[in-house]
Amino acid sequence: MCGIVGYTGERQAAVILLEGLSKLEYRGYDSAGVAVRDNDGKIEVVKAKGRLSVLEEKTNGGQALSGTCGIGHTRWATHGEPSEGNAHPHHSDDLSVVAVHNGIIENYQELKDKLIRKGYQFYSETDTEIAVKLIDYYYKKYLGTPVDAINHAMVRIRGSYALAVMFEEYPGEIYAARKDSPMILGVGEGECYLASDVPAILKYTRNVYYIGNMEIGRLGKGQVTFYNLDGDQVEKEATEIQWDAEAAEKAGYEHFMMKEIHEQPKAVSDTLRSVLRDGRIDLSDVGLTEEDIKEISRIYIVACGSAYHVGVAAQYVIEDLAKIPVRVELASEFRYRRPLLDPSGLVIVISQSGETADSLAALREAKEKGIKTLGIVNVVGSSIAREADNVFYTLAGPEIAVATTKAYSTQLIACYALAIQFAKVRGEIDDEDYTGLITELETLPDKIGKIIEDKERIQWFASKQAAAKDIFFIGRGIDYAITLEGSLKMKEISYIHSEAYAAGELKHGTISLIEDGTLVIGVLTQQDLYEKTVSNMVECKSRGAYLMGLTTYGNYSIEDTADFVVYVPKTDVHFSVSLAVIPLQLMAYYVSLAKGLDVDKPRNLAKSVTVE
Ligand code: M6R
Repeated sequence: MCGIVGYTGERQAAVILLEGLSKLEYRGYDSAGVAVRDNDGKIEVVKAKGRLSVLEEKTNGGQALSGTCGIGHTRWATHGEPSEGNAHPHHSDDLSVVAVHNGIIENYQELKDKLIRKGYQFYSETDTEIAVKLIDYYYKKYLGTPVDAINHAMVRIRGSYALAVMFEEYPGEIYAARKDSPMILGVGEGECYLASDVPAILKYTRNVYYIGNMEIGRLGKGQVTFYNLDGDQVEKEATEIQWDAEAAEKAGYEHFMMKEIHEQPKAVSDTLRSVLRDGRIDLSDVGLTEEDIKEISRIYIVACGSAYHVGVAAQYVIEDLAKIPVRVELASEFRYRRPLLDPSGLVIVISQSGETADSLAALREAKEKGIKTLGIVNVVGSSIAREADNVFYTLAGPEIAVATTKAYSTQLIACYALAIQFAKVRGEIDDEDYTGLITELETLPDKIGKIIEDKERIQWFASKQAAAKDIFFIGRGIDYAITLEGSLKMKEISYIHSEAYAAGELKHGTISLIEDGTLVIGVLTQQDLYEKTVSNMVECKSRGAYLMGLTTYGNYSIEDTADFVVYVPKTDVHFSVSLAVIPLQLMAYYVSLAKGLDVDKPRNLAKSVTVE
């Protein structure tokens, strides 16, 4: 959460900083600020509460601030309410040290007490101000270099941080330090950039460095130097980012979410093609050999939010096809549960950003226990991608909307590919089934495209639900996994209370919440469970519910029960999530739109949850 940017070069820094922040606003949007070193060498700080547009107005789109070196921040509040005073950048009292920060300083109270004893005063409620003043303290105490001062502070700070710091005495330079929060450093001709995420700098450069944990970067004009905790220089290779700049623009769509919904056929197809060679699945780029696959005794899938929902679907698919026992768990629980893991097991961590704090911690927990780990990750070079033993990259491209759509769809594809290949290698399916499943997988992009084409009908229905108080999603088996995602999509962007229920569980309590007119959405893509779920829908109807059915073409008898029906094309039962989730994404989008809400940046949320 929170987005940070930095620029040093020949151009007007503030304009570039604001542009970069606009690409990071999905990470936090309760206040924003920039610090720019003007042409006389003075550091000027401007901050504003509210969306980035308020800061843009205050600085005339950055034009009001001269200077070619600066840092910026868009905030998702952790310590201290959203306010101008708590907005970043924060600074030492004499403005000799100024910084922006993404992360959480866990021992901030202890550090604050120490600094108060040393005579420091504090103007904000943030943990960041403490980090800045701690750096200032060591800088002035030892009269060393900025690298020395930051190193001293890093040793004392517990928690996570991506820090960008400017020192008044070092014009044209920005210092970056990182522990467990994302940050990339970009280099162009005579200029350097720093950002929490690639889209912020994609317009200017594709050459980036990944700064490691507990490392410092010194950005000068066109050059980055890296240091370790001892202050020794560290050599690093730059990486070229493959994403193109347009991928991070709205391209004529009103919202990123709608653009990303439309990008799903391509994202799914790209991800699938990345592991298909001559009609067979090839996991050699993922780094899994046939020997590795045969040795897996059980699988633990660990993730958060929508990525966890992918795990729930994958559990059904992998167990059914590959016959490997799978346990799927929320990363926030896994990390503290002291899980008993089978040494021959495989831990799969699913994450779009590759930076989710709980998922990263779960990965580390598994590695510490010596279990093989596999990351299914979208962001190249992210922490989970770098730390996992093996990586399956999803090719969704940059996902900007807070509500995930295309990344979720590509994560499903990665799981299907693993399930099918594991099943084949372990002799659980024959050649005919193997080819059949792959052929069916290849039809998914077109089928997804067809569902999206039919979006007006869903828009019409969604617009009538804008006043709903509660919505219940019910389904059995894989359909239950679909309901989990449908319900999360709905609540996160429409603010309507919604719950996903395994249809068979309703009678154990939840059915008492059904009132006259409550919308209940039944998902019925699994033929063998169809009638059971219909019965559960009828039970809801008898208690006044208004019913929507989501099923495959051919199941027309649902019209006898449901008030509104959405059909999706038939596919192999294992892949039905990929199709049935699309109308639910569209429905959440249109309900949010009908309510006049900010679809891409729902309240209280951030795209990448880098704090616990
Ligand atoms: O980056 P990650 O995939 O690790 O993020 C996990 C969740 O925070 C994420 O899926 C979240 O639930 C989505 N915003 C929901 O749309």
